Amino acid sequence: MGFNTKQIHSGVTPDPVTGSIVTPIYQTTTYVQDSVDEYLAKGYSYSRSHNPTVRALELKLADLEGGADCTCYGTGMAAINALFLAYLNAGDHCIISDVAYGGTYRLATKIYSRFGVDFSFVDTADPAAVEAAVRDNTALILTETPANPTLKLTDLRAVSDIARPRRIPHAVDNTFLTPYYQRPLELGADLVVHSTTKYFDGHNATIGGAIVAATAEHDEKLRFVQNATGTIMSPQVAFLTLQGCKTLSVRIERQSANALAVAEFLEAHPKVEQVCYPGLESFPQAELARSQATGFGAMLWFEVKGGLAAGKALMDNIELWTLAENLGSVESLITHPVTMTHADVEEAERQRVGIIDGLVRLSVGLEDVEDLVGALRRALD
Ligand SMILES: Cc1ncc(COP(=O)(O)O)c(C=O)c1O
Repeated sequence: MGFNTKQIHSGVTPDPVTGSIVTPIYQTTTYVQDSVDEYLAKGYSYSRSHNPTVRALELKLADLEGGADCTCYGTGMAAINALFLAYLNAGDHCIISDVAYGGTYRLATKIYSRFGVDFSFVDTADPAAVEAAVRDNTALILTETPANPTLKLTDLRAVSDIARPRRIPHAVDNTFLTPYYQRPLELGADLVVHSTTKYFDGHNATIGGAIVAATAEHDEKLRFVQNATGTIMSPQVAFLTLQGCKTLSVRIERQSANALAVAEFLEAHPKVEQVCYPGLESFPQAELARSQATGFGAMLWFEVKGGLAAGKALMDNIELWTLAENLGSVESLITHPVTMTHADVEEAERQRVGIIDGLVRLSVGLEDVEDLVGALRRALD
């Protein structure tokens, strides 16, 4: 089946009781058992462990990423937390992309480092740097590509080739491109992490997370953590995310086309210092972008001439583009990572990895592109 068919039908069957085409919200705590001997005959016991609405979403996401199974969580950060809990013990070492969502950095440096886990933030765009960072106790490699917010890419095949012979699980945060454009498991990764808050929901309506596992063994480890720590997604969020998934390809294709037009407009504007979008010829890793993904996504960033002050003035005054955290939704959003999404990343580290003070991040939505460009033109002028 093709992706468009899967995003609508995978994981979902008409409700056996009513025939409802849309999977109902199973708003329940517990499930009657047939007998002590036939405990779990229907697969459900207690909604911290399993819930039919959440399960439908897990099956759909597993199919879309081409994985064996999937676990869903209350937030994208809860998914990354589950990943760390499943794979990292005191004394272990973990490699993370040096540019990644600020919350991932915060979880590693402010929480897991307290429990004796050592982290290296490595330029995963450079496979030799990844290889050099591997230690005997490296227990997990987490890459994020394109990375939030600089859009630096990791060569997923190369990093997977380093991880596999050493039996180090390679997890990829695929939030920015979604399986419609990039499928890390097909490129050799073991696990795919998502903030479903972004493109799977797509409507700024929920917060959620997911991990798709390449094998049942990986999924089992995560499912144990999901249940033991009580971080499963709620059925309402799963319901809304299931609806969002059905239009994922249509939304992200149009949003990406809008993003390219916005990037081209900005690149030609005299008041813009620099623009970064993987679909531009000027993108430093343009070849890699084309070799491991089938699209460029709807995220970009730019810097206004005049740096931080000029950027702030633009963000405070622009119409239509909403100043807010989040990305991937139908509404176009404008974000200042240094004060918003990446505020907890130390300044020296931010400077080192290119999260410059004047970086303005755009999440391009589904509005008419003429309106989006018009608002940017007026704000720049
Ligand atoms: C790439 C990436 N991964 C993970 C997360 C965390 O997801 P959530 O906000 O759903 O906890 C975010 C949030 O912005 C993100 O951008």
